[in-house]
Amino acid sequence: MRRKLAAGNWKMNGTQASLAELGKLATAHAAPAVDILICPPATLITAACAHAPIAIGAQDCHMASAGAHTGDIAAAQLKDAGATAVILGHSERRDAHEEHSDLVRAKARAAQAEGLMAIVCMGESLAQREAQNTLDIIGGQLAGSIPDSSTGENLVVAYEPIWAIGTGLVPSLDQISEVHGFIRARLERRFGAGVGRSVRLLYGGSVKPDNAADIFTVPDVDGALVGGASLTAADFSPIIKALEAV
Ligand code: PGA
Repeated sequence: MRRKLAAGNWKMNGTQASLAELGKLATAHAAPAVDILICPPATLITAACAHAPIAIGAQDCHMASAGAHTGDIAAAQLKDAGATAVILGHSERRDAHEEHSDLVRAKARAAQAEGLMAIVCMGESLAQREAQNTLDIIGGQLAGSIPDSSTGENLVVAYEPIWAIGTGLVPSLDQISEVHGFIRARLERRFGAGVGRSVRLLYGGSVKPDNAADIFTVPDVDGALVGGASLTAADFSPIIKALEAV
């Protein structure tokens, strides 16, 4: 009932030349059995949109709809550029730009108001996991970052343990299962079973061609948010195929 989603986050990587990778992906996955989304840098969004059936998203937006915010981009502008989704609250932004959950929630509300799908990220640090605070941290980020306007269509939640991002470290399948089950239960409690069960939950953090299939067996993992391994078709395509095979 939930359509699987393979999402790529290019972060601050990529120039026009990188769009050739999207061309390869689009050719290899002309009729995908899952949703494929790539979030390139904002500079590439419009050009990237030429590669259907791959949907294109952004990596951040401002909470305001327009105005004097030098260097920021509004959700309406992302939509105008061709984006259909936006990643919000990535740990790199929570950390480097001091984005707290209430700001993430305001941005997600702004994105949803423009008809964009908000991919809201959350995850614990290694110290928080070792102190056995993971579910408290996730519970707080979930309550604080997700707007009331959320539905199964306009919200995706990505669980990304900070210590797994870009490190090659991956939680055990039991650890992923515990957090995803917790997020699902909290969403059902807050939004009711209908909406709560329709929101897609992605796992993110060092997803690679050789571990994706195992991760996709975990209940309530509806896909992945992939950083490094989304930069080339050679790496991302086997991850898409592993998701299609679930
Ligand atoms: P990674 O990044 O796949 O390179 O670990 C994931 C992310 O930050 O979304």
